[in-house]
Amino acid sequence: MADSNDSAKPDFRVDGKVIVVTGGVGILGKVYCRALAESGGTVVVADIDQDACEALVAELPGEHLAAPVDLADEESIVEWSAALNERFGAVDVLLNNAAARPPNIFAKHHAFPLDDWNQMVAVNMTAPFLTTRELGPAMAERGRGSIINVSSIYGVVGPDQRIYEGSRYEEQGGEIRTPMAYSATKGAVVSMTRYLAAYWGETGLRTNCITPGGVGSGQNSTFTEKYSDRVPMHRMARADEMAGAVLYLASDASSYVNGHNLVIDGGWTAW
Ligand SMILES: NC(=O)c1ccc[n+]([C@@H]2O[C@H](COP(=O)([O-])OP(=O)(O)OC[C@H]3O[C@@H](n4cnc5c(N)ncnc54)[C@H](O)[C@@H]3O)[C@@H](O)[C@H]2O)c1
Repeated sequence: MADSNDSAKPDFRVDGKVIVVTGGVGILGKVYCRALAESGGTVVVADIDQDACEALVAELPGEHLAAPVDLADEESIVEWSAALNERFGAVDVLLNNAAARPPNIFAKHHAFPLDDWNQMVAVNMTAPFLTTRELGPAMAERGRGSIINVSSIYGVVGPDQRIYEGSRYEEQGGEIRTPMAYSATKGAVVSMTRYLAAYWGETGLRTNCITPGGVGSGQNSTFTEKYSDRVPMHRMARADEMAGAVLYLASDASSYVNGHNLVIDGGWTAW
């Protein structure tokens, strides 16, 4: 970390830092893992499928670790965290990026199954409680580190229903909708961020949040056009446009940033 007599250039690199990325093999997780690896970090790729974690580790430049975990299962998180703490003493960065996509994620509110709700609560909200409970104390004890939670614009504002008519996302099961479980859990993540920022701030362990807007990833043209019409920048995001915020919050460039929600939405929530 630069002291006041050194260069004024902020240090966005993460050399020597151990960085856990949950949901590491997903659409955005993969991009984060690559950006963090290319910026000098040792990446712990954490996702449900061991083979997929290993395949990504093999693709990344440098030495990294595949660490599969079931984030819907307390015992799995406890064992996984203990193994990471034993191996590294404490991790430097925890990026709580995983989110559940249960089978009926696009069902209407009046027909939304409780099982799907519970799965989203478990992975999107309870898992960051458990990962921070299990990995946070060692980070706090060491007196530094960064927890990065992932919310969504729909954790900050309600979903504009006008964009859904005719919208489809074939890969993810058809007609697009944002369920209440998504808004509820993503809203909770912002509150949990503020809680942890206040709880651990004095130790030097910082907690922040990013709030991505919609990333183009195979939605049909109706959705893409209607979504883009709602954005001041008039387009959806590319996955790589989220990585700068993650690098900033993971690195010492953000050493005095704590409790912040960094919104990356092209201005969706600005009007
Ligand atoms: N893509 C977007 O447009 C967008 C917009 C706003 C916010 N976000 C948020 O960004 C994050 C990443 O989104 P994405 O589009 O890459 O999602 P994704 O569905 O592609 O990736 C999520 C990952 O989480 C993993 N996961 C789910 N359940 C798990 C479990 N029980 N145990 C371990 N891993 C599990 C999945 O296997 C998957 O790899 C999510 O938190 C999402 O809510 C995404």
